[in-house]
Amino acid sequence: MSNKILILPGDGIGHEIVAEAVKVIDFLVREAGLKVETESALVGGSAYDAHGTPLPDATLALAKESDAVLLGAVGGYQWESLDMAVRPEKGLLGLRAGLELFANLRPAILYPQLAGASTLKAEVVAGLDIMIVRELTGGIYFGQPRGVETLENGERRGFNTLVYAESEIRRIAQVAFEIARKRGSQLCSVDKANVLECTELWREVVTDMGKDNSDIELSHMYVDNAAMQLVRAPKQFDVVVTTNMFGDILSDAAAMLTGSIGMLPSASLDVSGKGMYEPIHGSAPDIAGQGVANPLATILSVAMMLRYSLDEPALASRIEAAVSKVLDDGLRTADIFSEGTQRVGTSQMGDAVVAALQAD
Ligand code: IPM
Ligand code: MG
Repeated sequence: MSNKILILPGDGIGHEIVAEAVKVIDFLVREAGLKVETESALVGGSAYDAHGTPLPDATLALAKESDAVLLGAVGGYQWESLDMAVRPEKGLLGLRAGLELFANLRPAILYPQLAGASTLKAEVVAGLDIMIVRELTGGIYFGQPRGVETLENGERRGFNTLVYAESEIRRIAQVAFEIARKRGSQLCSVDKANVLECTELWREVVTDMGKDNSDIELSHMYVDNAAMQLVRAPKQFDVVVTTNMFGDILSDAAAMLTGSIGMLPSASLDVSGKGMYEPIHGSAPDIAGQGVANPLATILSVAMMLRYSLDEPALASRIEAAVSKVLDDGLRTADIFSEGTQRVGTSQMGDAVVAALQAD
């Protein structure tokens, strides 16, 4: 039986980078026996332009029917002044909520070929391999009440709510313990338990779960310290588990340790392992349409999809090896270019990955 993949290019560079990932999927279907059917739909600003909503019902319905979703990126300058309820980002948040993708896995891996691209000293980042497990469907992103109200004196007041039920904390922590078990067996839970009651509960629940996961070395860190430690001595981390908003912030910082956010994929999973896969960089409207964006994060997102949702770990490893090979060959898009390497565009990079797959 073939799996269904929904392709959502989104906005900005989303179209260009997803096209390269589709080349890789098509190659694996043609030459490696991968059985998938693909379909495409609109999300984000392009969906708003066509249908007046960033997440059309038809897109969500197709996503629900699919075994996995591959997303490019959403957002762009032209939609920034829209009402919050119809901004492109709401399309992404609606997919996460609608598909109940509570577990967001964001690996930050330093490719040895790119050690010089990090703004940190090579010895601080060499061999870096962190997995950030971010809670994705709760916390302050979704908590009620939320909004902006006008007080009697005419002053406006904005408010959001940070809320986690114990069960939400347990299910994300469980995912993180299991991932830690398959890696370096260290888990650092990040909170702000010294100030926020909600994350005091988070710490209590994770600590309690530590008793049943005593093979994992569990530690706790306040988020401000975690931000500092990430740039001071990032290799102390193996797996990090944290709330939706802290994970948003820390994963960008962790990504930059690796030199380019253009290299990093992500997976967002539901309880059954169905998932949405996307590069962690945004839609980069400043370079959209120029054919210079780095497609590797999206191609590596396909590898994560094969590993986590489609049970094809060998094909996932083949993609990762092909990406490593093109880096070995010195091919670089603009974001990772340095003296002595060969600058290529988006589609040349995609073609090179397909050629490396062909050759292996
Ligand atoms: C991310 C992004 C999103 C988030 C935005 C686009 C809504 O920054 O995936 O990290 O905040 O989750
Ligand atoms: Mg973010």
